[in-house]
Amino acid sequence: MIDKAIEALKNGEIILIYDSDDRESETDMITAAEFMTTEKMTTIRKYAGGLVCMPISNENCDKLGIPFMVDILKEANEKYPVLKDLYPNDIPYDAKSAFSITVNYRDTYTGIPDTDRSKTERELALLCKEGKQAEFGKYFRSPGHVTLLRAEKDAVLTREGHTELTIALLEMAGLEPVGICCEMIGDNGEAMSVDKTREYAQKNNHVFISGDEIIEAYKEFKNNN
Ligand code: 5RP
Ligand code: CA
Ligand code: ZN
Repeated sequence: MIDKAIEALKNGEIILIYDSDDRESETDMITAAEFMTTEKMTTIRKYAGGLVCMPISNENCDKLGIPFMVDILKEANEKYPVLKDLYPNDIPYDAKSAFSITVNYRDTYTGIPDTDRSKTERELALLCKEGKQAEFGKYFRSPGHVTLLRAEKDAVLTREGHTELTIALLEMAGLEPVGICCEMIGDNGEAMSVDKTREYAQKNNHVFISGDEIIEAYKEFKNNN
């Protein structure tokens, strides 16, 4: 399935990644941000329905200069003491979240329609692909309507979230390591069960892959590269 997942991402398709029974037990729709379109953003909003985020490789984050949100809040907590009370020391499924800042491409209106969000997503991936990370602030403003996620160094070798699973796949595909991810939520309001997301993948021709398979393939990829 790893080859099919890589091929699908190269073709600009949306794939489904289930992390694991030991973590969130969630399936995210994933795609490469460099090929983002309004149509794909509509599919993700309607049929995934979670928070649309952008996993960004650790190296790209360093070049863009974007920190974890938790570190920004820590810096501000002398002035705003409530931020100390809000410290996220009780996340039940992982040691820390990947949340960074939110952004909009400057050439958008409100930033939220599928047209605007897909533009923000695609333009950020292309900015990185063209090596123009130093010009981030010239083209993007913050806060915005797209949440950036900061991947750990060495991706899934360090953390096994959808953030790093997305980056590992994009890296193996030779694509710019800037992706899109969004949790699949069911009509009952709960995270969609893995049985349901597997069924959805089959019905709608999406590649479905588990976190374990990506981690195993990435370890081999790193040994050979
Ligand atoms: C942002 C999230 C999602 O779970 C997303 O999959 C990325 O996070 P993680 O790397 O923790 O899986 O929290 O909506
Ligand atoms: Ca999460
Ligand atoms: Zn996740």
